[in-house]
Amino acid sequence: MNNSERRRKKIIAGNWKMNKTPAQATLYIGSLLPKIENIDGADIILCVPFTDIHAAAAAVSGTPIKIGAQNVHYAEAGAYTGEISAAMLRECGVEYVVVGHSERRGYFGETDVTVNLRARAALKGGLKVILCVGEDIDERESGITDELVTMQLYTALLGVTKDELERVIIAYEPIWAIGTGKTATSEQAECECALIRDLLTKKYGEAGQKTAILYGGSMNASNAAELLSKENIDGGLIGGASLKEDDFAAIIKAAGTI
Ligand code: 13P
Repeated sequence: MNNSERRRKKIIAGNWKMNKTPAQATLYIGSLLPKIENIDGADIILCVPFTDIHAAAAAVSGTPIKIGAQNVHYAEAGAYTGEISAAMLRECGVEYVVVGHSERRGYFGETDVTVNLRARAALKGGLKVILCVGEDIDERESGITDELVTMQLYTALLGVTKDELERVIIAYEPIWAIGTGKTATSEQAECECALIRDLLTKKYGEAGQKTAILYGGSMNASNAAELLSKENIDGGLIGGASLKEDDFAAIIKAAGTI
């Protein structure tokens, strides 16, 4: 099964991280929409800060853009100060949630175990999960990237059923390429995405062939087409370049024409 048989459309997801107020979110979406009017070759997701969800969901209403959050807690409700549940997100118009981003793992102590708990809670709560994996520079230089990605992926997916996998997107994001301007080569990215495809297929059979696998790490308008042309790269998770409407629209255009 090749890429075009597997999925008709690429997925271009912006991860705004801790950027933009609700007013800025509304302005951004208003300005992005006319720039991508005639492109239907890519599914578009904006993963915005919790405080922007309400404004962003209103601004994309009636358009093909979907809203994602950047994390979710694993309990349904309770004494978890500062956390947000899947039901809260759903009610605000969120369809997707990023789980296991390397910034959550690195700065906020998330582990493969909490990533698994969050992914399962999100799926149980009806959300679609964008599950992030990826190695740091020491791990890459030590030659343990494949082992690390395998452990992250399989731990995160423990207890996730084949039916639930239909609502999972994997994002391969090498930490050394995030926010550094140093993109993985398309061969490096394809190599890990192909490994992920293989691991998914071993665990889930044919269903693993249908899972979308994104690349993230300094993807921009100039390198997107090359990365997205690879067999196992079904889209991008874009940080810095998703913050400017023109840059993000250019990536969406590149995806829409592949
Ligand atoms: P950059 O595109 O800024 O490198 O960020 C990638 C990322 O972390 C997306 O989740």
